[in-house]
Amino acid sequence: MYDKLRLGVLVSGGGTNLQSILDACEAGKIDAEVAVVISDKAEAYALERATKHDVPGVFLGVGRNDTPEYLAADEQQVAVLREHEVGLVCMAGYMRKAGPAMMQAFADRMLNIHPALLPAFPGVEVQWHAVEYGVRVSGCTVHFADEEFDRGPIIIQAAVPVLQADDGEALAKRILRQEHRIYPQAIQWFAEGRLRIEGRQVVVEGAGDGTWSDGGLISPALELDL
Ligand code: GRF
Repeated sequence: MYDKLRLGVLVSGGGTNLQSILDACEAGKIDAEVAVVISDKAEAYALERATKHDVPGVFLGVGRNDTPEYLAADEQQVAVLREHEVGLVCMAGYMRKAGPAMMQAFADRMLNIHPALLPAFPGVEVQWHAVEYGVRVSGCTVHFADEEFDRGPIIIQAAVPVLQADDGEALAKRILRQEHRIYPQAIQWFAEGRLRIEGRQVVVEGAGDGTWSDGGLISPALELDL
C-alpha cells in the first residue's frame, strides 16, 4: 500500500494548477502524489506536464453531456482512477461535469478550483465577467465538486483586488497566483483528514480565521506556507 494520498487530476487545458500540485508534492509540501492525469482534450498541454514528471497521462474523450459516449467516458474515468488507486480526484482547469459513475465512486473525494469567489460568477470566463460587472474584489475558490458546476461546499477561498486598469487577462493572472497556493493547501487539509462537511459548510479542523499574505486574503488559513 502507499503512505501518501494518491491524486487523480482531471484537466482540459494548460495545467498550471496541475503544475502547482506536482511541484508541491515533489517539494514535500503536501503528503500526496499525483498518480494519474486524465484529460478530455488530447492536445491539453497539461498532459505534457504530466509526462515531464513521469506521471501517466490519459486522454479520455467525453463527448456531449448525457449522451451514451459521455456516460461511457464517465465509467472509463472511474476505471482509470481505480486502476491507479486514487484517493482524491482534483479537477484542475477541467471543464466538464462529473457524471453519475464518478459521483458514485468519488462523492466527497473530489475537489474543484474556480477562479471566482463562489457563489459569485459561476461558469466560464468569470474573470472577464467580474471586471465587466465592476466588482472591487474577486478571487478563487476550492470546493468539493458534485454533479453540477461550481456548487459544492467551499473549503478555502483567496481574495484579490480588482484594479481600475484591469482587464480580464490581468485579473486572471492575479487570481491564478492565488489558485496555485490554495489548491495545494486544500489537498493537504484533505490528506490530513482535517475536512469535515456539515451541510453547506466545511469545517477545517485547526484552521485560523484567515490571513493577509502575498497580496491575497486567504480564508480559512493555517500557517499557510505553501
Ligand atoms: C484557471 O483559472 C482555473 O481556475 C480555470 O481554468 C484556468 C486555467 O487552469 N478552471 P489551468 O492553468 O489549466 O490549471
